[in-house]
Amino acid sequence: MASFFLKTISLANLLVVLSCSASLLSHDEECSALFEFKQTMFYQDYDYGLHKLDSWRILIKTNTSENGSGSDCCLWDGVECSNEWHVIGLDVGKSSLSGVINSSSTLFKLVHLQMLNLSMNFFESQIPSEIAWLKQLRSLDLSYSLFNGQIPNEISYLIQLSTLDLSGNPLKLQSHGLEYLLQNMTRLEILRLSGVELSSSVPCFLANFSSLSSIELIDCQLQDEFPSAMFHLPKLKHLLLRDNSNLTGSLPEFHNNSLLQYLDVSSTGFTGIISESIGNLNHLEALALDKCHFSGPIPGSLLNLTQLTYLTISKNEFTGLVPSFASLSKLTVLVLGYNSFDIGREYNWINKLSKLRTLYLDHMNIQDEILPYLANLTKLNAVSMRRNFIFGCIPTSFLNLTQLTAIDLQGNQLQGQISRSFLNFKSLEYLAVAYNNFSGTVGIESFTGLKKLEYLTLDGNKLSFITTNNYTNDTQQELRYLGLSSCNLKEFPAFLQLQTKMEYLLLNDNEIEGLIPNWVWNNSLKTLRMLALTDNFISGFHEHPHFLPWISLEVFDMSYNQLQGQLLIPPETIVIYVVSNNNFTGDIPPSICELKSLQELEGAVKASTGFNLTCDRFERRRGAVKVPVGFNLE
Ligand SMILES: *[C@@H]1O[C@H](CO)[C@@H](O)[C@H](O)[C@H]1NC(C)=O
Ligand SMILES: *[C@@H]1O[C@H](CO)[C@@H](O)[C@H](O)[C@H]1NC(C)=O
Ligand SMILES: *[C@@H]1O[C@H](CO)[C@@H](O)[C@H](O)[C@H]1NC(C)=O
Ligand SMILES: *[C@@H]1O[C@H](CO)[C@@H](O)[C@H](O)[C@H]1NC(C)=O
Ligand SMILES: *[C@@H]1O[C@H](CO)[C@@H](O)[C@H](O)[C@H]1NC(C)=O
Ligand SMILES: *[C@@H]1O[C@H](CO)[C@@H](O)[C@H](O)[C@H]1NC(C)=O
Ligand SMILES: *[C@@H]1O[C@H](CO)[C@@H](O)[C@H](O)[C@H]1NC(C)=O
Ligand SMILES: *[C@@H]1O[C@H](CO)[C@@H](O)[C@H](O)[C@H]1NC(C)=O
Ligand SMILES: *[C@@H]1O[C@H](CO)[C@@H](O)[C@H](O)[C@H]1NC(C)=O
Ligand SMILES: *[C@@H]1O[C@H](CO)[C@@H](O)[C@H](O)[C@H]1NC(C)=O
Ligand SMILES: *[C@@H]1O[C@H](CO)[C@@H](O)[C@H](O)[C@H]1NC(C)=O
Ligand SMILES: *[C@@H]1O[C@H](CO)[C@@H](O)[C@H](O)[C@H]1NC(C)=O
Repeated sequence: MASFFLKTISLANLLVVLSCSASLLSHDEECSALFEFKQTMFYQDYDYGLHKLDSWRILIKTNTSENGSGSDCCLWDGVECSNEWHVIGLDVGKSSLSGVINSSSTLFKLVHLQMLNLSMNFFESQIPSEIAWLKQLRSLDLSYSLFNGQIPNEISYLIQLSTLDLSGNPLKLQSHGLEYLLQNMTRLEILRLSGVELSSSVPCFLANFSSLSSIELIDCQLQDEFPSAMFHLPKLKHLLLRDNSNLTGSLPEFHNNSLLQYLDVSSTGFTGIISESIGNLNHLEALALDKCHFSGPIPGSLLNLTQLTYLTISKNEFTGLVPSFASLSKLTVLVLGYNSFDIGREYNWINKLSKLRTLYLDHMNIQDEILPYLANLTKLNAVSMRRNFIFGCIPTSFLNLTQLTAIDLQGNQLQGQISRSFLNFKSLEYLAVAYNNFSGTVGIESFTGLKKLEYLTLDGNKLSFITTNNYTNDTQQELRYLGLSSCNLKEFPAFLQLQTKMEYLLLNDNEIEGLIPNWVWNNSLKTLRMLALTDNFISGFHEHPHFLPWISLEVFDMSYNQLQGQLLIPPETIVIYVVSNNNFTGDIPPSICELKSLQELEGAVKASTGFNLTCDRFERRRGAVKVPVGFNLE
C-alpha cells in the first residue's frame, strides 16, 4: 500500500513538472513533435486505410508567414489547432499505421490535446503511462489498434474525458478494477471497453454519471451484479453487456422517459421476468436477451415497441403462448427459439413482417403450416425452424424466396417431393431438411448449380438418394457437411469423388455393401472430422490398412457392419471411436489407449483371444454418435 501511495505522489509531481515544461512548447515545437511521431511510424499495409500522415511535411522555412505558422502542421490531415495555435486534436484513425508508441513518444508532448484518435491501426504497443500527461483530453479513442498489456492506472487521471474507447484491444485491467479507473471521470458520455479483459464488477457510482449515453462492455469478463440503477441513467441510449457469463442482474421497472435504443444483455447471467414496463421504452430499436435465464411470459407491452428492428430472446426459459408480433413491422431480425413456449397454432402474423432478414423459430412447439406465411418475406436471408411440428408440403410461394442463403427445417413433419425444388436457390449455402416425411427420389443433380452449398442434410426421410454416375464436375459445390443417413443408398455416391473438403459425412443406416472404394478412403484426408457409417453391410477395405487415413478425424462410427480382420488405429485427434458389432479379430492394439483426446471407445472384439487391455477411462457403452454442431445456424 505504501509503495502505491509513493507512486501516486511521484507521478503527481512528475505531471506538474512535465506539464509546466511541456506547455512551453511553441507551435513550431508542437509541429516538430508531430513530425517526430511520424518518423517512428510506418504503414502496415498501403492498400488499406487513409494514410493521413502523407500530408505531414516540414517545409523549408524560407517563407514563414507573418503569424509564424511556417511549416504549418495545423494544415496537416487529422491535425486540429486551437485559436492559440496549439495542437488540440489528432485524428489518425484507420491510417494503417504501425510502429512503437512508447514512453518516449513525442505524442505525449502535445499536452493541449483534447482529442486523440489512434483507432484501427497496428501499433502492437503497450499504452504508456505518459498518456496521463494529456490532461486536457476529452476524447481518447485507441480502439482496434492492437494495444496490449495492462491498462495503465494513470489513465484514471484523465478526468476530463467524455469519451473513452479502448475496445477491441488485447488489454487487461490492472488489479484495481473499473472502480479505480473510472471513479473521477464524472463527465463520461461514451464508455467503450468491449473485448478488454476487465475481470471486474461494474461500479455502482456509474449510475451517478449522468452524462453517460453509451456503455459498451461486451465480452469483458465482468463479474457480480450489474447495478440496476444504471438502467435509469437519464441520457442512456446504448447499453451493450453481451458475452459476460459471470455478470448477473435483472431488468428493472422501466420509466417512460427512457431514451434507450439498444439493449443487449445476451449471454450473461441475467435472470427474472420481463416487466410490462418494458413497453415504456418507446425508442427501443434493438433488444437482445438471448442465452440468459429469463423466464415467465413475453409481456404484451413488448408489442407496443414499434421501433424495434432487432429482437432476440432465444435460449431462455420463457413460457406461455408466443404472441402475434404483427405490430413490429420494422423487424429485420426475429430470434425466439429454444424456450418453453406452449404449443402454438397461429403463426399467420409472420406475413406482416415483410422486412425480416433473419427468422429463427427453432424448438418452440409450432404446430402450424407456417411456410405459406413466408411468401411475403422477400428480404428473408436465413430461416430456421428446426424441431417443431410444422406440417404440409413446401409451397411454391416458398420456393420463390430464392434469395435465401440458409434454410433449416429439420425435425418437422413436412412431406412431399423435393427432387428439383431448390434448383433456383442460387445463393443457398445451408440446406437442412433432415428428419421430416419427404419422399420420392433425390440426387446430387437436384442441387446442380448451387455452387455455394456447403451444408446439406437429407437424413431420416423417406427419400431415395439416386447414385448415378451422372454428375459433372463443373457444377459441383464444395460440400463441408453431408447427411444422407437412411436414404436407401446401395453404394457410396460417386459424386463424393469430387468432394475434397468434407468435414462431416453421415451415411448411417443405408444398405451400402462390399468393400469401401479407395476413393472414399483417400477423400478429404486433411479436413474430415466425422465419418459415420453405422448400420450398413460394409465388409472391408481394398487394401489392409492398419491406420485410418484422416489426420483430423474426431468421430468415427462404423458399428453394425461386417468388417473383418485387425482393428484400425485412429489418428490422435479421435474423440469418439465406435466399431462394435463387426467381425474384427485379434487384440485391441494397446496404442489406442494412448490416444489423449479419446473420450469414448466402443470396440467389442468378438473373436479376440489374447484380450489384454485396460483402458479403464472409457465408458464402454453404445453411445449414439452426437452430431457436432459445427456449421450451425444458432
Ligand atoms: C521507443 O521507441 C523508439 C523506436 O520507435 C526507440 O528508438 C526508443 O529507444 C524507445 N524508447 C524507450 C524508452 O523504449
Ligand atoms: C512565399 O509565399 C508566397 C505566398 O504563399 C509565395 O507567392 C512565394 O512564392 C513564396 N516565396 C518563396 C521564396 O517560397
Ligand atoms: C496564419 O497562416 C495560415 C497559413 O498560412 C493561414 O491559413 C491563416 O489564415 C493565418 N492566420 C492569420 C491570423 O493570419
Ligand atoms: C479521484 O479524486 C479524488 C478526490 O479528488 C482523489 O483523492 C483520488 O486520488 C482521485 N483518484 C484517482 C484515481 O485519480
Ligand atoms: C466465471 O467465474 C468462474 C468462477 O469464479 C471462473 O472460473 C470463470 O473463469 C469465470 N468466467 C469468465 C468468463 O469470467
Ligand atoms: C400499448 O400502448 C397503448 C397506447 O400507448 C396503450 O394504451 C396500451 O395499454 C399499450 N399496451 C400494452 C399491452 O401495454
Ligand atoms: C402479403 O402482405 C400483404 C400486405 O401486408 C397481405 O395483404 C397479404 O395477405 C400477404 N400475403 C401473404 C401470402 O401472406
Ligand atoms: C413467384 O414469383 C413470381 C414472380 O415474382 C410471381 O409472379 C408468382 O406469383 C410467385 N408465385 C407464388 C406461388 O407466389
Ligand atoms: C443423365 O443426364 C442426362 C442429361 O442431363 C439426362 O438426360 C439423363 O436422364 C440422366 N440420367 C440419369 C440416370 O439420371
Ligand atoms: C473435371 O473435368 C475435367 C474434364 O471433364 C477434368 O479434366 C478435371 O480433372 C475434372 N476435375 C476434377 C476435380 O475431377
Ligand atoms: C463373422 O464371421 C463369421 C465367421 O467367419 C461368420 O460366420 C459370420 O457370419 C460373420 N458375421 C458377420 C456379421 O459378418
Ligand atoms: C498383459 O500385459 C501386461 C503388460 O504388458 C503383461 O505383463 C501381461 O503378461 C499381459 N497378460 C496377458 C494375459 O497377456
